[in-house]
Amino acid sequence: MSEEALRQAQASVHAGEARALASVERPRWHFTAPAYWMNDPNGVMYYGGYYHLFYQHNPFADSWGHMHWGHARSRDLLHWEHLPIAFGPSAEQGEEHCYSGCAVFPATGRPMLLYTMVPPKGSPRGHEQWVALAEDDELSHWRKDPTNPILCRGRDGTPEFEASWRDPFVFSAAGRQFMVLGAAMPGEKGRRGVALWESTDAQLKHWRYRGWLFAPEDTTIRFFECPNFFPVGDQWLLLASPYGPVQYWLGDFSPDQGRFTPRSSGLLDGSPDFYATNVLMNDPKGRLSLLAWGRGFPAGMGWNGCLAMPREVALDDAGRLKVRPLSEMTALRGPEWSLANAGDVSGIELPTGECEIELRGAMPASGLAMTLTSAAEPQKSVFLRIADGCWSCLDKSAALPDSTTGDFALRLFLDRSFLECCWGDGNAWLTKAIPYLPAPIRLSIGAGGNGNTMPTPDAQAALGALTLRAWPLSL
Ligand code: FRU
Repeated sequence: MSEEALRQAQASVHAGEARALASVERPRWHFTAPAYWMNDPNGVMYYGGYYHLFYQHNPFADSWGHMHWGHARSRDLLHWEHLPIAFGPSAEQGEEHCYSGCAVFPATGRPMLLYTMVPPKGSPRGHEQWVALAEDDELSHWRKDPTNPILCRGRDGTPEFEASWRDPFVFSAAGRQFMVLGAAMPGEKGRRGVALWESTDAQLKHWRYRGWLFAPEDTTIRFFECPNFFPVGDQWLLLASPYGPVQYWLGDFSPDQGRFTPRSSGLLDGSPDFYATNVLMNDPKGRLSLLAWGRGFPAGMGWNGCLAMPREVALDDAGRLKVRPLSEMTALRGPEWSLANAGDVSGIELPTGECEIELRGAMPASGLAMTLTSAAEPQKSVFLRIADGCWSCLDKSAALPDSTTGDFALRLFLDRSFLECCWGDGNAWLTKAIPYLPAPIRLSIGAGGNGNTMPTPDAQAALGALTLRAWPLSL
């Protein structure tokens, strides 16, 4: 990419910043691009004392297009410092977009970024997998490797996949380095899944095709976008974004056979507003933090897209997947909110931040409904319902993994127009871009129906057993 093209992209972002900053809908403690569009987090890594985040970025508009790699760094995954755009499409080399990818660590030298190069639509060339090299230890200047492409269709055993194979993710197993990509064979009925390569050199520029890691014959999944594959506890976790809620499979991986055999599966989040995960594989804290694109926002605000709250993935003693808010999140809490009218479930004032709701005892038979309303603009409200083993928020709903009839705990994380709901101890999530509710925000809780009615004595009793705690959150 020419210096001039990068300069123009950066200047466009600067010009858009004031408008994006002024938007009341823009989340405050979630990361957003300085202006305009962002989607997937890319190349997440820890290096030189910082967490580095790259992300799909359109520097020219608040809609998808002109995919560049935006860049930011952080000491704690919560407070981010914007850095200049890392790189963008090299038009002189026939590149129209730089799609998603990952960070890789060759045996010597600085980390590299591996990503999908996208030529103009209709080009017979198809997508290719490219490498970008860091030119300094701040990771602020990047150069496309002259040996690109490192992978293309029909070479080194790579099949003639359908043109849009994409989103490389690298992991190590048994001291060897592997790469996965989402891919499909041509045609309506072409096999689709997650394909596997193995590195044949310590500098990670040569890769040999190993076949499908996971390509279920009976899948209804159209494409496995942004596959992530890594060990968690004594199992392997495969994540994929299938144009719908992010799915996970837990199971066994054999590096020699190059095969993944799932034992269990589920949804990482019940809503597609949490999408395109990128896991941080080299956190010095030894944990697995998951970053993802928060989406679903309306157009025309000067910004669009955010980074969902970082979530840690782990297995519990029974080998079940737990996805918990990053532990550092508690550092964003202000003093505990005093719920002056906490006894009055018909309208508790909440801070914009975190709210913990616990119910000890039986859930009303008709379920529980919660409404968040702006006292200033009561016509704006957000409705959350839990009933019959399901939960829903506005137009998104999903099954819950546990029974909804006994005790439960629910945590809501509200940040302007973005809401993340965590069920139990990280057992399930529901994420939703919502209409912005100007403060003061009121939470009303009711049994079933519309969230304001408590029709039966058992419902009244159950609601009396609710405990609420809340904290404002800010950076
Ligand atoms: C997922 C995705 C990826 C692709 C990128 C393009 O949201 O569609 O598959 O690389 O976004 O921006």
